[in-house]
Amino acid sequence: MAEIESLLREKRVFKPSPEFVRQANWNKKTVREYRKLGEKPERFWARMAREHVSWFTPWKETLRFKWPNAKWFVGGKLNASFNCLDRHLEGPNAWRRNKAAIVFEGEPGDVRVLTYGQLHREVCRFANVLKNLGVRKGDRVAIYMPMIPELAIAMLACARIGAPHSIVFGGFSAEALRDRIHDAGAVAVVTADGGHRRGSTVKLKAAVDEALRAEAGSVRNVVVVRRTGDAVDMVPGRDHWWEDLMREASPVCPPAKLDAEHPLFILYTSGTTGKPKGILHTTGGYLTHVTTTAHAIFDLKDTDTYWCTADIGWITGHSYVIYGILANGATTLMYEGAPTHPGPDRFWDIIERHRVTVFYTAPTAIRTFIRLGEEHVRKHDLSSLRLLGTVGEPINPEAWMWYHRVVGGRRCPIVDTWWQTETGGIMISPIPAAVDTKPGSCTVPFPGIHAAVVDDEGEEVKPPDGGFLVITHPWPGMLRGIWGDPARYRETYWKRFRHKGYYFAGDGAHRDKQGYFWVMGRVDDVMNVSGHRIGTMEVESALVSHPAVAEAAVVGRPDEITGTAIVAFVTPALGFEAEAELVEELRRHVAHEIGPIARPAEIRFTDALPKTRSGKIMRRLLRDIAAGREVVGDTTTLEDLGVLARLREQEEE
Ligand code: WT7
Repeated sequence: MAEIESLLREKRVFKPSPEFVRQANWNKKTVREYRKLGEKPERFWARMAREHVSWFTPWKETLRFKWPNAKWFVGGKLNASFNCLDRHLEGPNAWRRNKAAIVFEGEPGDVRVLTYGQLHREVCRFANVLKNLGVRKGDRVAIYMPMIPELAIAMLACARIGAPHSIVFGGFSAEALRDRIHDAGAVAVVTADGGHRRGSTVKLKAAVDEALRAEAGSVRNVVVVRRTGDAVDMVPGRDHWWEDLMREASPVCPPAKLDAEHPLFILYTSGTTGKPKGILHTTGGYLTHVTTTAHAIFDLKDTDTYWCTADIGWITGHSYVIYGILANGATTLMYEGAPTHPGPDRFWDIIERHRVTVFYTAPTAIRTFIRLGEEHVRKHDLSSLRLLGTVGEPINPEAWMWYHRVVGGRRCPIVDTWWQTETGGIMISPIPAAVDTKPGSCTVPFPGIHAAVVDDEGEEVKPPDGGFLVITHPWPGMLRGIWGDPARYRETYWKRFRHKGYYFAGDGAHRDKQGYFWVMGRVDDVMNVSGHRIGTMEVESALVSHPAVAEAAVVGRPDEITGTAIVAFVTPALGFEAEAELVEELRRHVAHEIGPIARPAEIRFTDALPKTRSGKIMRRLLRDIAAGREVVGDTTTLEDLGVLARLREQEEE
């Protein structure tokens, strides 16, 4: 592919400024030492766990790996909420009590600041609320909220009592919420009346009601934060207002002393089947991973105001809006709304007003801003920024250069961080003062992380060839399983390179002669739309659940802004006409079944789908057609060659 060749010819190299290097948490020397130590990952991570995490009881064994199950810091006891809160209120850091933990800005412009002392009190009170509702250690709590401080309070309260949270992104539909609540067997749901988005409100409580309508299942209580003031139905006995419960709750709640392997949370992510996977993370390893990487990669200092624009409903928000950032005692900014509301400069306005120093966002957002024009950025004083980051998808070198020049004023290092919901924390990324950057490359693995690019056999390819991205040694933040489905865990991540014992990430990548990684994107049936994973099968099952659809095949097509756009090929059911109204109806239907992010950009009707003789849909062909590329490669197994011709004709019309 020409695209890849030009990427690998990228010659520009950027070095951090001497000023940045001088003040950095980790410099070249530290990193050299840690890379050496990291050749024995257990030794490196044990040192990080001692340095960056507070333990009630020390662990006895750093790693116990029985393929494919890992236990880190066996025997150790700790609490994630203690690490994020209490330890900033005592000892040498006691002054942080009155330091901002969360700076919140709502979409309507309301601002709230919670100090570490205040956040601690609120978390303790909500932990008591949960206890009073009968939530016990090990019980799952679903959280479906806008980006408001109560979301952070709810998750840290769960962590405090050892009740794993399962946060469902507020942009998911009632249907998607219902599946996730039931799969996790949640006993309670924490939500809000709604949230602000693009000048209107998203009705979250109504979606919870719809999700629980047919059956409440395991859910006994619903707690509702008043945010928008929209009218909601309250079911007596089941539903409670947050403020009523908080008023009665004591602000004293000792943190539970939890096993290092106690489940901290479940987070659902799309896979290659129609059913999302509940990715399970535990306490000790996860916290060590995210706290260490946040310290080293985001270079967090007490003087920073750090802003990650991800919603807490995604892993990026779990790890780098909340856990990794608060565990470092830094100030984290939370913004509720849309990036371009009320104007195209909302983000830059926020950075200027709050004097944000470290800014972490997605390439898709950067590409949107490029299109909107740099004058909106230039209007604002962004001189507070000192470090930039990206995550979620490959960044094209042009977008990287724009970010560097227009947002970073050519002085801020950029950390392009590769990781996944499953990895818990950042795996491959520059350490800003120690690793030179190349636009489009996430550079090299973090110390103690071992990655490779391999062929089908699991043998390392020679640079700059392409292959599968694998992780060759267990790491502390790794997922501990898929909730309720150990077989799927084994099959999805470990079976492919079982003989080597490698973790299969599902991404294709190249490695250049300097050992830099260039991640190209998913190699499975998962699309990356605006940095969010959506399974083709998920969209297909949403489509076929509509009576007008006989059959559907979904593929991704390259898109300048969102990275990938969803294209659906649909065969209408008997008696339904392939009409424009049906296109709109089906797009709405998918948004209703999954959420607006899964709404296909394009729906094409076809009287048949191209299939192999054994009945497998030939997605490769559909991908070519959707992208407007010439259909290349072997089509001899195609069951009905006429199908292809007809799809092509349609193209030409
Ligand atoms: C997939 C994981 C945890 C980050 C948020 C998304 C892609 C992520 C990069 C990057 C190229 C990237 C991969 C990965 N991805 N970061 N810096 N460069 N690709 O988490 O939803 O679990 O998706 O996002 O394809 O497998 P996720």
